[in-house]
Amino acid sequence: MPHRPHQVIFQPEGKRISILEGVSLLEAASRAGMVLEAPCGGNGVCGKCRVIIHENAPQPTETEKSIFSADELAQGWRLACQCVVTAPMTVTVPSASLFYEQKILMDGVAREVTLEPNIRKDYVDITPPTVADLRSDLDRLSDALNRDGRRLRPSLDLARRIPAKLRRNNYKVTLVTEGGELIAVESGDSTARNYGVAFDIGTTTVVGMLVDLSTGR
Ligand code: FES
Repeated sequence: MPHRPHQVIFQPEGKRISILEGVSLLEAASRAGMVLEAPCGGNGVCGKCRVIIHENAPQPTETEKSIFSADELAQGWRLACQCVVTAPMTVTVPSASLFYEQKILMDGVAREVTLEPNIRKDYVDITPPTVADLRSDLDRLSDALNRDGRRLRPSLDLARRIPAKLRRNNYKVTLVTEGGELIAVESGDSTARNYGVAFDIGTTTVVGMLVDLSTGR
């Protein structure tokens, strides 16, 4: 017997579509122009494609029983990818189940960490060279940092720009180092502006946080 079409209404938008029996609600929603969250590809694993079916809700699958409480199942909560259209249905799609809904995580669980950024900023105010003190600019900067006698290692391009930078700024500059490597020389004291971005890349969520590398906040 050929599959019969049934009308499915998606709320709160009120979108209506005529869908053949046997098509999943996830597919029906997509054809109605409502793309639902489905990071597991409709395999009933992620639990993101949650909807409420107000009439003719099918019997819950074992997966749905493991995801929803008995009360929720009684209210019609189902996974759109696990339900096929077998009769006319009215379905509410919560905004959290919509793919395009932007979600901004504003809070989370924090723990104490020791602040040890690989990028450091140090302000130095060095004396200009004189006849009595003929150290190179790089040696002056290394001595000013006073890091166990270690010499700074800039790239060749940066090394070429350091002399002019120092003289333009009256020998008052901020050194930006990554490990022992000098990666930038900034004008004046810019130590108050030292930021990093931390990312937590999960399976379904990406969270980024701007961090002040000087204070950890
Ligand atoms: S799409 Fe993942 S559970 Fe439905």
